[in-house]
Amino acid sequence: MDRPALFITRRLPQPVMDAIPRHYHMVAEPADRPPTAQELRHGFAQADAVISTLTDRIDVSVLAQATKLKIIANYAVGYNNIDLPAATQRGIIITNTPDVLTDATADLTWALLLALARRVTAGDAWVRTGNWPGWAPTQLLGAEVSGNTLGIIGMGRIGQAVAQRASGFRMPVVYAGRRHVPVPSGLAWEWQPLDAVLARSDFISLHVPLTDTTHHLIGQRELGLMKPTSYLINTSRGPVIDEAALESALEARTIAGAGLDVYEKEPLVSVGLRSLSNVVLLPHVGSATLETRVRMGLICLENIAAALEGRQAPNRVA
Ligand code: DGY
Repeated sequence: MDRPALFITRRLPQPVMDAIPRHYHMVAEPADRPPTAQELRHGFAQADAVISTLTDRIDVSVLAQATKLKIIANYAVGYNNIDLPAATQRGIIITNTPDVLTDATADLTWALLLALARRVTAGDAWVRTGNWPGWAPTQLLGAEVSGNTLGIIGMGRIGQAVAQRASGFRMPVVYAGRRHVPVPSGLAWEWQPLDAVLARSDFISLHVPLTDTTHHLIGQRELGLMKPTSYLINTSRGPVIDEAALESALEARTIAGAGLDVYEKEPLVSVGLRSLSNVVLLPHVGSATLETRVRMGLICLENIAAALEGRQAPNRVA
């Protein structure tokens, strides 16, 4: 019997590549770069199963090639890169990789928050110039983190993991989201409407999926509700923020700063944003620890095995 054909759009960490069972036939050797449009179409035309990444835009034209595809296992928790209705219409199962990247992404959110508040990247750059004159009482004064209010927008798994970490900093947490979540004992999380979270928080962190409803959730009006001393952090998806409006708010200092891991037109980051000193910019590395990226790959393989064997794929989203 022919082995099922597997198309992996990008090279994954070696332990994942090593774990690909011998009973798959690889449609093409995955590379360390996004596939060309032609490679993507060819892969989809040949495959019984695909592992895609968030940079692969899987739209109707790509799906039209997929004559025998049973499953797309997206190597990410977010799946806004896939046209779900079009995939479902063709009977293709879609899965994602929740849970395993929650801690890594929550940790990185805190790395951004602390780097922003305490001007870590500016300090590092200064020392590297060799021109640091030594300690001074007024040097690189930042914002206090401990005891200040953390606002979370989108209280799913990652939002809750970020909120849990705030207890070590004795920070009150206010959150906005579609539903009230159970509050772990000993913690005080308060649900508030979005506008109140924006107005009250000293640090605001975004953790919503990208959908039609959350596109530009944070625009000029919402930024205008924030305090001039507040910081905005985004480790979710770039288009959740209207980036031009953010750039204007940062330039005018109507908010204190922003920490971004994701951008509206990745990998493009505007010159304006890059030239501002009150931002910390990371290259979409929320889940980038070796352990997490390996677990993400193994979950994709588990989902594929289940779908091809006619079992329920554990992380099916459509
Ligand atoms: C995700 O899983 O959606 C992350 O953005 C990938 O790092």
